[in-house]
Amino acid sequence: MKTIKGIVFDLYGTLYDVHSVAASCDAYHPGRGLEISTVWRQKQLEYTWLRSLMGAYADFEQVTHDALVFASRHLKLPLDDAACAALCKEYLKIKPYPEVPEALARLQAMGMPLAILSNGSANSIRSVVVASGLERRFQHLISADDAQIFKPHSSVYTLAEQRLNCDCSELLFVSSNAWDASGARHFGYAVCWINRAGNTFDELGQSPDHVVEGLDQLADWMDAQ
Ligand code: LAC
Repeated sequence: MKTIKGIVFDLYGTLYDVHSVAASCDAYHPGRGLEISTVWRQKQLEYTWLRSLMGAYADFEQVTHDALVFASRHLKLPLDDAACAALCKEYLKIKPYPEVPEALARLQAMGMPLAILSNGSANSIRSVVVASGLERRFQHLISADDAQIFKPHSSVYTLAEQRLNCDCSELLFVSSNAWDASGARHFGYAVCWINRAGNTFDELGQSPDHVVEGLDQLADWMDAQ
């Protein structure tokens, strides 16, 4: 691996826990919150990929709303318009994983430029980062909005090269989403996969350069370089 000149993070599921909305879902359908958030997230991802293939980009907030409507119908757990709007608002305030704030501070203290490259809209990325008080950690918040297509399309991965003014081989891309880690590796980034839950890496012909169980372990590894 070349000397790392910057770190580019995925947001949803990597730095921030998409299932932190499960408790809010539970308020509408007690005991079913995690089930709702699980179908919600899976459909949200599918809709980003399908819309990319269809050439029918709609921003992440729209896709997130549509996926929640699907989850509610599919699970036969009614959510009226006001409930959907309230839950989508909660999605703008999902919580970072517990080790993330301190690990980001450590990585920033190493003088490493930190960026987020997410399928989130510019508004949703900013809202989530500001709500968690972590906005000072990042030099760049980069949205798929700028490419009008979603990861894993190469037009999105190149946005971080342009903004950080580096070749992707000089940047470490960090994601917990195996499909995203595969997409970034295929594009040419050095990749760290955060595997918190003992998941299986995708069979897409790519392997991560480095695997950790949390962002704290990435900071430890960077420290040791
Ligand atoms: C992201 C999601 C989709 O790009 O993981 O932040």
